[in-house]
Amino acid sequence: MDFTEEAAVTAVKESFAPGTDPRLAELVGGLVDHLHTYVREVRPTVEEWNTAIGFLTAVGQTCSDTRQEFVLLSDVLGVSMLIETINGQETGTESTVLGPFHMTESPRREIGDSIDELTGGRDCVVELRVLGADGTPLPGATVDVWQATAEGFYDVQQPDVQPPGNGRGLFTADDEGRVRFRSVVPSHYPIPTDGPVGELLGALGRHGYRPAHVHVIASAAGHRELTTHLFVADSAYIDSDAVFAVKRSLIVDFEQVDDQAVAARYGIDAPFRLARYDVVLDPAPAQA
Ligand code: BEZ
Ligand code: FE
Repeated sequence: MDFTEEAAVTAVKESFAPGTDPRLAELVGGLVDHLHTYVREVRPTVEEWNTAIGFLTAVGQTCSDTRQEFVLLSDVLGVSMLIETINGQETGTESTVLGPFHMTESPRREIGDSIDELTGGRDCVVELRVLGADGTPLPGATVDVWQATAEGFYDVQQPDVQPPGNGRGLFTADDEGRVRFRSVVPSHYPIPTDGPVGELLGALGRHGYRPAHVHVIASAAGHRELTTHLFVADSAYIDSDAVFAVKRSLIVDFEQVDDQAVAARYGIDAPFRLARYDVVLDPAPAQA
């Protein structure tokens, strides 16, 4: 059969062997459909297509054990958030992107500890309750948190400045499903922009900043694991996250506390910032 613009998709899909896994055929077939439609509509020149191939090659070559440029590309194109949104919880706390900095295991810490080993965490307290969808506390839930410093860097970005595990903590919720830790208020920060994704952002006139946030992964027996963030309400870039990850329900007031009696209950001095948030987990899907 002659190759034509119209017949090309069918020719590619008919090349799949009859016994091909149906979901794989759907995933690859759908990609071929949409990619061909894109090319027919946008009509790239050969030179433009070669530029695109060169860009994707550079994205791959930028990946290493500590850098995932393809995830970053998916993030800045809004695809990571689209995947999160269509696969998110039904009634519980909304999910958001994992991001590329969850590459090391968080150190196990006790409730009330500081996750900031540089300052002792005298600026800020985060208090979480992990609940089931009906509001029942989930004692024994696991809560993994990680955040940037007040200067906007993760430990893995500053191995000469921060000890490994700084800004990270793995907690077990108490009998009331509570987890509490001291920290610093994280800063907004730029995603890595020294690679091909940064070049693309520059060419599109886009900034690469994310609003300040604390990452959370919460899990409990019989419940869906949740990956999300707590966004600092008064942060810069809260309305223009470079990876589109902000959801209104995840914006948390890091309230200023000036009352010394309240501070004493948390074992620190006033003033400090207090963030409280209920993390609600959906039940685990029934096993097929
Ligand atoms: C992060 O929040 O750590 C992150 C997410 C997406 C891209 C870059 C960083
Ligand atoms: Fe982050």
